[in-house]
Amino acid sequence: MRRGRINWEDMGKTAEKRIEQLRAEIRRHDHLYYVQSSPVISDRQYDALFTELKALEQEHPDLVTADSPTQRVSGRALEGFATVRHAVAMLSMDNTYNADELRAFDERVRKQLGDEGYEYVVEPKIDGLAISLRYEQGRLVTAATRGDGRVGDDVTANVRTIKAVPLVLLGDAVPAVLEVRGEVYMPTSSFAELNRLRAEAGEACFANPRNAAAGSLKLLDPKVTASRNLSFFAYAMGEVSESLGRWHTECLDRLKGFALPVNPHIRRAGDIEKVIEICLDWDEKRPDLGYQIDGMVIKIDRLDQRELLGATGRAPRWCISYKFAAEQAESIVESIDVQVGKSGILTPVANLRPVELAGTTVKRASLHNFDELNRLDVREGDTVIIEKAGEIIPQVVEVRKEQRPAAAVAFKAPSHCPNCGSAVAKDEAGVYIRCLNPDCTGQLRERLRYFAGRGQMDIEHLGPALIDQLIAKGLVSNFADLYKLTVEQIAGLERMAGKSAANVVAAIEASKTRLLWRLIAGLGIRHVGGQSAQILSERLGSLDALMAAEKDQLEDIDQIGPIMAKSVCEYFRDPKNRAVIEELIALGVRPQQQAVERSGKLAGKTIVVTGTLATMTRQQAEQAVKQAGGKASSSVSKKTDFVLAGDKAGSKLAKAKELGVRVISEEEFLAMTRG
Ligand code: IVH
Repeated sequence: MRRGRINWEDMGKTAEKRIEQLRAEIRRHDHLYYVQSSPVISDRQYDALFTELKALEQEHPDLVTADSPTQRVSGRALEGFATVRHAVAMLSMDNTYNADELRAFDERVRKQLGDEGYEYVVEPKIDGLAISLRYEQGRLVTAATRGDGRVGDDVTANVRTIKAVPLVLLGDAVPAVLEVRGEVYMPTSSFAELNRLRAEAGEACFANPRNAAAGSLKLLDPKVTASRNLSFFAYAMGEVSESLGRWHTECLDRLKGFALPVNPHIRRAGDIEKVIEICLDWDEKRPDLGYQIDGMVIKIDRLDQRELLGATGRAPRWCISYKFAAEQAESIVESIDVQVGKSGILTPVANLRPVELAGTTVKRASLHNFDELNRLDVREGDTVIIEKAGEIIPQVVEVRKEQRPAAAVAFKAPSHCPNCGSAVAKDEAGVYIRCLNPDCTGQLRERLRYFAGRGQMDIEHLGPALIDQLIAKGLVSNFADLYKLTVEQIAGLERMAGKSAANVVAAIEASKTRLLWRLIAGLGIRHVGGQSAQILSERLGSLDALMAAEKDQLEDIDQIGPIMAKSVCEYFRDPKNRAVIEELIALGVRPQQQAVERSGKLAGKTIVVTGTLATMTRQQAEQAVKQAGGKASSSVSKKTDFVLAGDKAGSKLAKAKELGVRVISEEEFLAMTRG
């Protein structure tokens, strides 16, 4: 976890280098947040990265590129769902964290609106998932996630199971087309119950209600979504065929009249001081709400004034959020454990006296690494302050040294692996301690858990308790062994009677045809996460090609840096790893390439993108091709349907002309994909 800022000037790094690092980091967190629904940093930490990037780009406008995260709304659509293009973009919102930042926002508004009076509306910021509901003739026709703001996932079937969402609107005055935007959320009590059941079943718990809501909406089986007790509040509109009023509050009243749920705590405020008062008041009252809010949203009430204020590419200038500080609690460190990770890294974890924090009972907190543990000087018996920054994994932020028991001793980093007892070593940077034994069962357990995890091979029923038993009985010592398991072997294990064993074997069998990127991600190659795995899978096309790839070839791929390239090469040069992969293939694992959408505007078309484009990078154009159901190829042949030629297009353009392949401009391309 990041702590403090590194002084990049001192380290002699250029702004350009830092900008690149920030972009890569932000993209990684966007992916974790929007695609995997499992963020690892808080919104506040994310904002700090974003603000730093924005400031650096302002100082160096020549370094701004079209693909910088500052130039677009982040996120992307998920695999497995059809996509929906939003008629009106779903923007994000800028954040503030204190009263002075709110006053500065008010100053900006005042500057633009001049002497004209204006009023604010203050709403609870529901901590869920933004959704757009499209009603035509009063009937719900589509429900889509925000996605990247322009294109989201079609989650209509799942949203239909949410009882708070009317399938048919009430009354005769409903506009022919009405897009309603709002938040799908999971009430705190349902969240606690869901996690209790998951823990019992040995499944991973959701970090917070927002992730639980997102995870529940993105399930492929609506029956499961229906069991998750999701709810909904409407707070904005997208496309509407006729105006619902001149004020936001008036529109919300109309929505209520149509039977749409609108939060009952929405209030008007005459000036920014009143806004601040309401925000501070809700910071105190929020635990009583029954659902989580992570702040307040402040909006200009008059719609014509909103028009005047307009928007930046990312967020409107007429609204802002006020984020509450992370909730804290005090507890006592009962003991400190050391856990072995999948690559052998040892992580200290504090076992705490259970304490309520932001709607859940916290019993453990990660101490991240031994540097961090030493910095905080956490000892067994200490009274500590824990925080759930953005309601993610709880962490120890402070030790109450004055309350330390006299007998408390400093925690010593282990010299041997707590799991297998073999020697450990510090890594190059001196931050991490690693178990060096490649056969350590602690590492194996983590590798198998990760392999079977939802973001990787997604093997249902293969939970931690079962994995532990499989290892203890010597039934599994690598990924390939999973595919040799029989129903009889599993049925002989504890709590595996009845249909359970058959379910496990069926789930393992079903994972044989997962997408290639899932297998690549599941291998747990150092530095290769889900997004990099997708890039590798897209670019190399097959496991064979990936295994044979040279370091230079990997480095040539956009977004694959030298560290990752080296790590991938090393992994596949290791004969042990190769043997396991060959065995996987021999056992019938057949990773699939990403399916192409058949119904899109470019369905069945092959397109080559070449030259420099004005509004997007080549990669973004290729992504758009795929989203529209087409295939993006890198070489021009007679089979190519179009060549999209940007500025300075060279040999590919010449080849297209030679073969008589149709060449299209960026404008034509945008028209084709936007429709
Ligand atoms: S208005 C231009 N109102 O917060 C933004 N958003 O951090 C229009 N959210 O993506 C959205 N409660 O998912 C609005 N009362 C509220 C909200 C709200 C929660 C979410 C929404 C948005 C995110 C931005």
